[in-house]
Amino acid sequence: MQLTTSDRVFTLTGAGISAESGLATFRGSGGLWNGYSVEQVATPEAWAADPQLVWRFYSARRRDAEFARPNAGHLALARLERAMGDRLFLCTQNVDDLHEQAGSKQTHHMHGSLFESRCVECAIPFPDREQYLGKLPTCETCGAAVRPHIVWFGEVPLAMDLIYHQLDNATVLLVVGTSGSVYPAAGFVHSARQRGIRTIYVGPEEPLNAALFHRIELGTATAVLPSLF
Ligand code: APR
Repeated sequence: MQLTTSDRVFTLTGAGISAESGLATFRGSGGLWNGYSVEQVATPEAWAADPQLVWRFYSARRRDAEFARPNAGHLALARLERAMGDRLFLCTQNVDDLHEQAGSKQTHHMHGSLFESRCVECAIPFPDREQYLGKLPTCETCGAAVRPHIVWFGEVPLAMDLIYHQLDNATVLLVVGTSGSVYPAAGFVHSARQRGIRTIYVGPEEPLNAALFHRIELGTATAVLPSLF
């Protein structure tokens, strides 16, 4: 992909970029929701009904993510950031920290982070790598329940103003490893097309919103990204 010094790249990543680091994607065989229903573990209603079950699910995901290491796809995006500086905006739906481990300095986690929790009352996120399998955590300040700092279905992704501002200023939308089935992220390509900017998708299969992309690079993140720019 030819980039010039006047290009501004908005990159959106999904679970697929971490697949080759050993982290399961959500949909498809071996996907994370296999064996769990979204309603059981990733909605405010699930939390209200059974916080123990929700913490068991996220504790297991913390354990898996703890041992994961970035792959050549994450490293390629970190390299691109070093070359472009703040002309690259990296927005991820992923809650792992593999972009950071790869060296990306400015990563916006629109669906929250697996390694942060927050008190349901104080609402301020704090770093947390514990796995809660027995007693559930409570806030040291006010005693209220502590929940994963994850955006669940039915909740609004983080800093949408910042996201749309960055999308408005981009000249290229690069999307990697996301099935195009979860909004609002699945709609970014639509906004980009309305503004007439270049759009490209990287992944081993076509996403649901494939028709909206100018270019589709079929292949895994590690096979395609290192030589894409
Ligand atoms: N490289 C690139 N893409 C890959 C790879 C790979 N090695 N392996 C799989 N993929 C692609 C799949 O083809 C699929 O299109 O990654 C995509 C993963 O899709 P999903 O499992 O639906 O994950 P994602 O789109 O990130 O999910 C969005 O859904 O449940 C929520 O909050 C959760 O952030 C998540 C959101």
